[in-house]
Amino acid sequence: MTLLDDAPILGGGRTPIPCTFVIFGAAGDLAKRKLLPALYRVWQQKHLHRDTAIVGVARRDWDDNAFREEVAAALEEFVGPGTTKQPEWETFSRRLFFAGFDMTDQDGYKALHDRLPEMSASEDAPRRTVFYLSIPPEVFQLVLGQLDESGLTDSTTDACGKWPRIVVEKPFGRDLESSIELNKLLVGSFSEEQIYRIDHYLGKESVQNMLVFRFGNTIYESIWNRRYIDHMQITVAEDLGVGTRAGTYEQMGALRDIVQNHLIQLLATVAMEPPSAFDSRHVRNEKIKVMESIRKINEEDVAEYFVRAQYTAGKIKGTDVPAYRDEDRIAPNSVTETFVAGKFFIDTWRWSGVPFYIRTGKRLPKRITQIDIVFKEPPMLLFGRRSPHANVLTMRIQPDEGISLSFAAKTPGISLDLATVQMDFLYSQAFRQDIGDAYETLLLDVIQGDSMLFARADMHNAAWEVLVPVIRAWEDTLAPLYRYPSGTWGPEAASDLLRQDGREWRPL
Ligand code: BG6
Repeated sequence: MTLLDDAPILGGGRTPIPCTFVIFGAAGDLAKRKLLPALYRVWQQKHLHRDTAIVGVARRDWDDNAFREEVAAALEEFVGPGTTKQPEWETFSRRLFFAGFDMTDQDGYKALHDRLPEMSASEDAPRRTVFYLSIPPEVFQLVLGQLDESGLTDSTTDACGKWPRIVVEKPFGRDLESSIELNKLLVGSFSEEQIYRIDHYLGKESVQNMLVFRFGNTIYESIWNRRYIDHMQITVAEDLGVGTRAGTYEQMGALRDIVQNHLIQLLATVAMEPPSAFDSRHVRNEKIKVMESIRKINEEDVAEYFVRAQYTAGKIKGTDVPAYRDEDRIAPNSVTETFVAGKFFIDTWRWSGVPFYIRTGKRLPKRITQIDIVFKEPPMLLFGRRSPHANVLTMRIQPDEGISLSFAAKTPGISLDLATVQMDFLYSQAFRQDIGDAYETLLLDVIQGDSMLFARADMHNAAWEVLVPVIRAWEDTLAPLYRYPSGTWGPEAASDLLRQDGREWRPL
């Protein structure tokens, strides 16, 4: 695939805004692996204002210098060795500060409030605060209350929008009721335009490209419907196990961890109607319409539509790995699912009768996220034989981000034989530049006040609503919990889900 037009079509020039970025949970995994590396990279690319202050909050006995050392170690590990030898580290590290206190300690919040002006190199920055809550859901209410008490949530509006802003990480509730409760809490202290519910999948370059692919071109939209599309398959596969997140994962399982957010967001993006404007209100309005049109099934019918399973011991890339139940800090009789396969229908004029199959799991053979759009077969067998599912459009979200289209072609020779061939667009070949991490895009969007790539409250509720019968059926054990050996594509029941419809999962 050749790059024909190297000028960006969508303008992206943004002026950096001075602000103070406060990370609650700064000693945690997410901060080290994702948030601080992303902030460093956007600093390097000069997308962060030079007066930005980055403040870590955690229950640690660190001062600013100790925090800088911690961040240096994280960047060496997660950005790459030698990062802290770069000249940008020198300037970045001077913008790092630390506030060590327990989240129950009101004096800690007050001290933070009083110290903000001193940390910020610009007069505007202390008022333009972003609070990033990377904290367990149990302490959420407590932290919000303390922020309020200490005056940290007092709002102000300037040319760059309303401040402070709050970024909320997953899990966003455990079910519909708790999601509604959480929203009530948030809107008690912040208005919707100040709240950013993060789903990092939406910041992925290849997910954003789905909108450009569909609505920046004319040729696909006319076939993007039930007349031409047989079904879609959305896969979010990981080869990793539960890792260090045992405690949180045990409470969530794959349905809450991936399906409720990343998978349903991908589904909404691939199925939405064209928005009448490319802005956060119109794009999100179209997505929510999809979520609200997903067919609700009865609790008793869940086993026909959804399969849950848990990994047993097996091999990943030749290495033995333990069963989920034998992982560190996992209950030996745990019934948490690490795999979900399911079938959704979207009851709209465009999608009536088209199944959307989804699957996600840990300890599958490889890490891959992709959407396969499988087109119908030609109406007649003109060449005497069929090339089953000759037309598949694959959107590869990760790794090897790109898009492929397969079609039938005549094989060379005197007889008329058909083969399926493929046309590929690969980001890495076409653009020859690194694809940044989703968090880089999303953190800058928060600072710029652009909420298009964030979930709105009604989206979370709609996604939970779809899953209510599944959650209930699984709690009431109306559906079996299957097992699958690590390193396989899930239980046989997941294949049966498609087989009963005369279809099969695409090979990955
Ligand atoms: C997170 C989930 O949201 O996404 C994790 O909580 C999962 O369980 C991760 O591993 C996968 O993200 P990515 O970007 O690596 O696909």
